[in-house]
Amino acid sequence: MLQEVDPRNEQVTVLPPRLESDVQEASTSSEQWRSEFPHRWDEDEMVTRRSTLRFLLAGSGVLCLTTGVLAVLSYLPSGPGVQTVAVAKVGELAENASKVFDFPDQYSRAILINLPGKGLVAYRDECTHLSCAVLYQGNGKLHCPCHEGLFDAATGAVLAGPPTRPLPLIQLAVHNGTIYAVKEVTQ
Ligand code: FES
Repeated sequence: MLQEVDPRNEQVTVLPPRLESDVQEASTSSEQWRSEFPHRWDEDEMVTRRSTLRFLLAGSGVLCLTTGVLAVLSYLPSGPGVQTVAVAKVGELAENASKVFDFPDQYSRAILINLPGKGLVAYRDECTHLSCAVLYQGNGKLHCPCHEGLFDAATGAVLAGPPTRPLPLIQLAVHNGTIYAVKEVTQ
């Protein structure tokens, strides 16, 4: 039997037996609902406040990184003919070492040299005679194996062989520890 309390006069009202059976029936139907639609709480993947916080922190981290990259690019040179291609990390090339890279796209190549006494220089890796690839010899000279053309690695000027024009220079920019090729300049 159920008792109902009226808060105003604290009078106790006894519910009729009919209502008690109704409550029992409702409780039984609730149990039936649970058996018909069982839920395995132990197998459920709970989304906790901690995992939500982790997700939000990771999301803001990615946003910060993207903003940082955009900020870096915005400080590099821009304008007509400027490409901004990352070619190496500062300190990656030992003195007298060289590295060939694609510039301004995958169809053209350029060569980066860490020249003793001068530092980083870059040229189009294409002989001005008949377009063979030139090689850095480690002695301050770029050599074209096709017809023995020779270029000065400090300036790109022709030293020997059939070429008559210097190697086109590739302008470099250094920002945040990365070396960028930015523009080809015909000399
Ligand atoms: S192509 Fe380089 S010297 Fe002829």
